[in-house]
Amino acid sequence: MSFHSMWAELLPVGRSSASGGYRRHAWTGADADCRTWFQEQAEARGLTYETDRNGNQWAWLGDPAAGNAVVTGSHLDSVPDGGAFDGPLGVVSAFAALDELRGRGARFTKPLGIVNFGDEEGARFGLACVGSRLTSGALTVEQAHRLTDGDGVTLPQAMESAGYDPGTLGPDPERLARIGAFVELHVEQGRALDLSGDRIGIASAIWPHGRWRFDFRGEANHAGTTRLADRHDPMLPYAETVLAARREAELAGAVATFGKIGVEPNGVNAIPSLVRGWLDSRAADQASLDTVVTGVEKAARGYAAAHGVDLDVVRESFTPVVEFDHALRDELGRILGKETELRVPVLGTGAGHDAGILSDRIPTAMLFVRNPTGVSHSPAEYAAEDDCVAGVNALADVLEGLACT
Ligand code: GLV
Ligand code: MN
Ligand code: MN
Ligand code: MN
Repeated sequence: MSFHSMWAELLPVGRSSASGGYRRHAWTGADADCRTWFQEQAEARGLTYETDRNGNQWAWLGDPAAGNAVVTGSHLDSVPDGGAFDGPLGVVSAFAALDELRGRGARFTKPLGIVNFGDEEGARFGLACVGSRLTSGALTVEQAHRLTDGDGVTLPQAMESAGYDPGTLGPDPERLARIGAFVELHVEQGRALDLSGDRIGIASAIWPHGRWRFDFRGEANHAGTTRLADRHDPMLPYAETVLAARREAELAGAVATFGKIGVEPNGVNAIPSLVRGWLDSRAADQASLDTVVTGVEKAARGYAAAHGVDLDVVRESFTPVVEFDHALRDELGRILGKETELRVPVLGTGAGHDAGILSDRIPTAMLFVRNPTGVSHSPAEYAAEDDCVAGVNALADVLEGLACT
């Protein structure tokens, strides 16, 4: 099946007709449809299909027990109203690259795996890369059991209702030991390639990043009858904190975002009792990130005190800086620079990826495909089909170089 027809088949799955964006959240019906699609692609190619103990899907050409396997793939889940490319481009390109290699008559000397990691975006349970974190051991089973969605459904409950056994969750070192290299292809989530005029790039590093929950607790009261001086309104220190985050990020050359908020009781005519805001912050280095988060928290405590509001700050997740494997990165550069005239710039990114989570266990690398506007995590996310096909060919070259004679 061509890249074009695979892409067209996956495109309607989990798409909201209202926004045009995707809501493929972990263990929902849309996620199940994506998983069915993956299994069908694997079986149509005669690959050995399996779901691992953490719900990640794998398709194998050859026997992974032979070791030194070369794996490619990404994720199929999305953020709320996400775009079509973040994740699926890497999975569709993986199957298309295998087709391309078979068309070339390539002879594989190593097992080849295609993977769909579960719950990469963390849209439902608040933690990104749940599937790869569990597999690597970066997330413990106890921590995973405590993950809860906005409706109070726990991760094990959600898995169970989707027909998966949550009793098997846990680290999977034997699986990782069989993998010699993991290469994830991804749409670029910035404009570096567009600005440099290149279709494909290689990742150098992922910025350290994390999520912090700020709970401002005040006092619910009547919006019409409560004098301003008598209020303990948590919305006010929250709003001031949003502005402080922007200031701190600007000073540190970092980024900081409050993109999700919860308000209780959430009534137009009630002063809130609770405003819960999630800070996502990222920086090129750890010291700058620390400066931002410490600065925002300090400012928030001052604002909360000034309004007679309590504040709790909880770090919900954190991923340290990732430097992708230098030898593998250089190898990709050599492979892609060899036959083609392709200039392949090496770039860093502020976005998290399963490849980053796995990078301290196995050699990992990433390929980026040009995104002309740089927009991502939005329905407007886009990559031209020509560039996607260039990505498939680059991935095929890389897999051929790594896994074939
Ligand atoms: C996931 O894509 C993230 O970087 O937040
Ligand atoms: Mn994403
Ligand atoms: Mn992604
Ligand atoms: Mn991501």
